[in-house]
Amino acid sequence: MTSVTRIDTVRLGGQDGPEVGVQGFGAMGISEFYGATDEAAARDTLDAALEAGVTLIDTADTYGLGANEEFLAPFLAAHRDEVVLATKFAIERRADDPSHRGVRNDPAYVRSAVENSLRRLGVETIDLYYMHRRDPEVPFAESVGAMAELVREGKVRFLGLSEVTGPELREAHAVHPIAALQSEWSLFSRDVERSAVGAAADLGVTVVPYSPLGRGFLTGAFADAAKDLQGGDFRAHQPRFTGENAERNAALLDPVRKIAAAHGATPAQIALAWVQQRASVHGLTVVPIPGTRKRSRLLENAAATRITLTDAELAELEPVAGLVAGDRYPDMSFTAASREV
Ligand SMILES: NC(=O)c1ccc[n+]([C@@H]2O[C@H](COP(=O)([O-])OP(=O)(O)OC[C@H]3O[C@@H](n4cnc5c(N)ncnc54)[C@H](OP(=O)(O)O)[C@@H]3O)[C@@H](O)[C@H]2O)c1
Repeated sequence: MTSVTRIDTVRLGGQDGPEVGVQGFGAMGISEFYGATDEAAARDTLDAALEAGVTLIDTADTYGLGANEEFLAPFLAAHRDEVVLATKFAIERRADDPSHRGVRNDPAYVRSAVENSLRRLGVETIDLYYMHRRDPEVPFAESVGAMAELVREGKVRFLGLSEVTGPELREAHAVHPIAALQSEWSLFSRDVERSAVGAAADLGVTVVPYSPLGRGFLTGAFADAAKDLQGGDFRAHQPRFTGENAERNAALLDPVRKIAAAHGATPAQIALAWVQQRASVHGLTVVPIPGTRKRSRLLENAAATRITLTDAELAELEPVAGLVAGDRYPDMSFTAASREV
C-alpha cells in the first residue's frame, strides 16, 4: 500500500484567502475527456485527496455538461468543511453538438450559471468561482462586476479567472480582488510566464496551474500516442499528441526520466516538482491541480510536493518547453496567448 504524504498548506490570494493544500485536485477527467470513467475508483481517489491534505477540488459546469459537478455532490455533502470548492462558468456547450464551444460572460449568464452550479453541487456557497474563458466583448466591469455581486450575496466567497493575460488580470483585479488565476502551466506549456504570472505576483494572486502533467504526456505514458489514445479520448485531436509531434515530444522526456531516476521518483512527480519550484522564480504561490482517476496516482502526485530539484536539474529542464512540437490547443483562440500583443 502506498504511504500517504500529508502536504503543506498555503492561502489562496494572500492572508485573507482560504487555506488549501499546496497541491489541489482536478476533477475533470473523472467525468470525461481522458478515457473510460469509473465512479467507484473516482470516489476512492477523492477520499485519498483528503487523506493527503489535497483540499482544493476543481470542477467546472462544462465538465460532462454538469455531470462532474453532480458527481461531486455526495462527496461534498459528507465533507463540505474539509474541501475548498472551485468551479467555473463561461464555456457553453450543447448536448446535440459535441464540438460546439461558446463563451458567455454577460451578467445574466453569470447569474443563471451560478444557480445551476449551486444546485448541481448541492451546496449553498462556492468557495472559488472562476470565469473559465474571457469574452473580450464583455467589459470586466460587467462580468467581474456580476461575479462580485455573487460575493456580496454570499453565493460565492472568492473570485478567479482562467486563461487571461497579465493586463486583463490587472484590469479585472481593479473591479474586485481576484484570489486565483488558473492557467495551463507545465514543463511543456510556459506561455503563461510571458505576462500573466508577473501580474499575479504583483497583485498577490495565487496561480493554479492546470494540466501540470501536460494532460498526461509528461508522465511518459504515451510511447505511441496514436495507439495509446483510443475510445474517443479528447487528446486524440490535440496537436501535441498526434503524428510526428507526438514522436518528437516523447523524445523530450529523456531528461525528465533521468532526473526522476536520480530522485527515485516518477516523471509525473518531476513535472509537478518543476511547476511548484518554477513559481518561486517569479515570487509567487502556486497550487497545481493534477487530475487522475486513481487513488495510487493521487498519492504519488501529492508526494511530489516533497521533491526539491537542484539548480543543475532545473537548468537541464529549462529548454524543454521551447522544443515542444505543436500548440497546446487545436484552436489557440481559446487561450489567453492569442490576446497577447
Ligand atoms: N481552466 C481550464 O481551462 C482547464 C483546462 C484543462 C484542465 N483544467 C483543470 O485542470 C485539471 C488537471 O488538468 P488535466 O486533467 O487536463 O491534465 P493533467 O493533470 O496534466 O494530466 C491528467 C492526465 O495524467 C494522468 N496522470 C495523472 N497522474 C498521473 C501519474 N502520477 N502517473 C501517470 N499518469 C498520471 C491522468 O490519467 P489517469 O486518470 O489514468 O491517472 C490523466 O490522463 C483538470 O482536471 C481540470 O480540473 C482546467
